[in-house]
Amino acid sequence: MKILVTAGPTREPIDPIRFLSNRSTGKMGFAVADQAARRGHEVKLVAGPVSLATPEGVDRRNVETAGEMLRAVEESVPWCDVLIMTAAVSDWRPAVVQTNKIKKREPVSGISLERTKDILQEIAPLKGHRMYVGFAAETDHLEQEARRKLRDKGLDLIVANDATQADAAFEADTNCVTLFSANGDVENVPLMPKKDVASRLIKKVEQLLCSA
Ligand code: CTP
Repeated sequence: MKILVTAGPTREPIDPIRFLSNRSTGKMGFAVADQAARRGHEVKLVAGPVSLATPEGVDRRNVETAGEMLRAVEESVPWCDVLIMTAAVSDWRPAVVQTNKIKKREPVSGISLERTKDILQEIAPLKGHRMYVGFAAETDHLEQEARRKLRDKGLDLIVANDATQADAAFEADTNCVTLFSANGDVENVPLMPKKDVASRLIKKVEQLLCSA
């Protein structure tokens, strides 16, 4: 299969020196790309700014902002059979990007933000027979929010992740997730290395495609 994976955070510039971002390290997404390649799939990886080596056999494209990630995903979706959106895409960006460094002597009363586009919603019309997989990292109402995103974003599968657990959060090497499928299947994946969570996810995708 041809699998497109997104990983890492995005960075939304404030000025040439500063940006708005989040705590994603890309570890989960890179593990997904790696396991997919190891299982013999063709893998393209769209990566936000992270300091991780490209997994063997994976075709990587680096992006910085949510807008760049959207364009990269739009270009590669027609190629793929499966899209796995692991990236923690920034939901806001500064409405104005200053071309010169903001000096601390300048008065700053606030930074006005505007919403970025939701990548999964933007590419919904390209879905066709493709499988779309999302991630949901939540601090509250995990199952309810994951099921809402599964439905509202038109996904086949969502990986729900409790972001309040230290050993299953953004910077950890382990994760503990629940996989909710659009067909009603629920699979609990207990705490284990992200590489093994990624392997379980790829096997689930293969199983869903076989039963489709
Ligand atoms: N996502 C996306 N485009 C965005 C934000 C998120 O495609 N601009 C994708 C993520 O890659 C993930 C899924 O949507 O696969 C859920 O992301 P999440 O940040 O949990 O959801 P949001 O839609 O941002 O919702 P909320 O702020 O209500 O949690």
